[in-house]
Amino acid sequence: MDFVINIDPKAALPLHRQVYTEIRQAILTGRLTPGEKLPSTRVLAQLLTVSRATVTQSYEMLLSEGYLETIIGSGTFVCRQLPDELLNTTPIQAKSQKIYDSISLSTYGKSLSQGKYLHLPEAEVDISFSYGRPAFDQFPIKLWRKLLSRHCQANKYILDYTYDSQGYLLLREAIAAYLSRSRAVKCNSGQIIIVGGSQQGIDLITRILIDRGDWVAVEDPGYLSARRAFLAQGANLFPVSVDKSGLIVNHLTTAIIPKVKLVYVTPSHQFPTGATLSLARRLELLAWAQKSRVMIIEDDYDSEYRYGERPIPALQGLDQGNSVIYVGTFSKVLFPALRLGYLVLPANLVPIFARGKWLADRQCNLLEQYALTDFISEGHLERHIRRMRSLYDGRRQTLVQSLFEHFGNTIEILGENAGMHLMVKFNTQLGDDEIVQRAALAGVNIGAAYPQYLKDSPGSEFIFGYAELSNQKIQEGVRRLAEVIPIQN
Ligand SMILES: Cc1ncc(COP(=O)(O)O)c(C=O)c1O
Repeated sequence: MDFVINIDPKAALPLHRQVYTEIRQAILTGRLTPGEKLPSTRVLAQLLTVSRATVTQSYEMLLSEGYLETIIGSGTFVCRQLPDELLNTTPIQAKSQKIYDSISLSTYGKSLSQGKYLHLPEAEVDISFSYGRPAFDQFPIKLWRKLLSRHCQANKYILDYTYDSQGYLLLREAIAAYLSRSRAVKCNSGQIIIVGGSQQGIDLITRILIDRGDWVAVEDPGYLSARRAFLAQGANLFPVSVDKSGLIVNHLTTAIIPKVKLVYVTPSHQFPTGATLSLARRLELLAWAQKSRVMIIEDDYDSEYRYGERPIPALQGLDQGNSVIYVGTFSKVLFPALRLGYLVLPANLVPIFARGKWLADRQCNLLEQYALTDFISEGHLERHIRRMRSLYDGRRQTLVQSLFEHFGNTIEILGENAGMHLMVKFNTQLGDDEIVQRAALAGVNIGAAYPQYLKDSPGSEFIFGYAELSNQKIQEGVRRLAEVIPIQN
């Protein structure tokens, strides 16, 4: 058991008093909670490198004062019946506001203290249309295990720091080849940084390019986690509306606002509306970015999935002026817990990002990088994507058919034939929260789109993720929704 307390052998206060004071303080501040087990006197003496008699003496003082209790055969515990007035143990979370008040937080810290940034577990329901989840049961886990164990060895190439915070070279080469083949991205391995998912990529971009007060243009509606990263750095957000052809670029180019430094876009499959940025708008955006010296973040999060339509090449491949940072992730094509993604950077920015990555967390986990290299180079990635494309296509069709079957023409389905979610607009008098609640009572989870809006949301729009659900579950989920959402004709 690890149990960290501070004692100073050189201090005037005897050691047993120091141990006593530290444990008492830990109980009073709630760090140790009633009923929590303490290490035995022998273990704690070893941990603190003090004699066992010292620890025994402090435990005895705490026992006699009622802070600790012993249960014969089980050990020493924080007393369960501490007198309330003794305790100052408001749980740490409940105290957090006070802590924020008394500590001077950075812009970043203040932003984190205000937002709802945690990824909270969703309520247990029978059928969840939550977005962003691939079909976990289809992941070739045996193969993945084989690739991991192929590289899982006790040597420094797997277990040590690397000298290359940019990421494992062969993985970067495999990604560069894959991107130029499948996404028409123009890059070589030297422009790639392996990051802990898109989110770390966006976070690094923000820290490196954005100062407090800078303006960042974002799609509206748009991806919340990117917006939060910009806000946390003190950026001002400039929302740009989206229509069926994606970001309305001329709202940006003709806007009378202070200079924008960064634009965040999801051109292949706008999140959450599912629109594809038209070629004309892509060219307009690139020309403007080059002229105005603005960087574009292209988040290509689920571009691998287009059904029955030509794949849309990445914006980055059209860029003539080093204006695009391309962000990609393996969260959708493999699984989110892998935490591997990549940035494709203009060459001059690479050394700065490599240093930023080194400062943030040194490097991504090497074992997974080795396994992923083989997964890509041996053709498994593209095979898996092809298989999932056909599976998700079927699931999407099932969802669309079920929605029309139960809601008829009263609903509108937004977005292209692509990705792992679609957006649905219901024609109903009910409020969005009421719909979510009614759905939950029917054992179905759907997400309202309004939190993705910066300006007013039109309402009644919901995001349906379908990749993880079987056709039967999709049909059953929509059937249950139709029972609880009254529609207007
Ligand atoms: C727009 C967008 N970008 C990126 C991601 C993936 O993030 P990450 O790679 O950090 O898992 C998501 C996940 O839902 C997303 O919706």
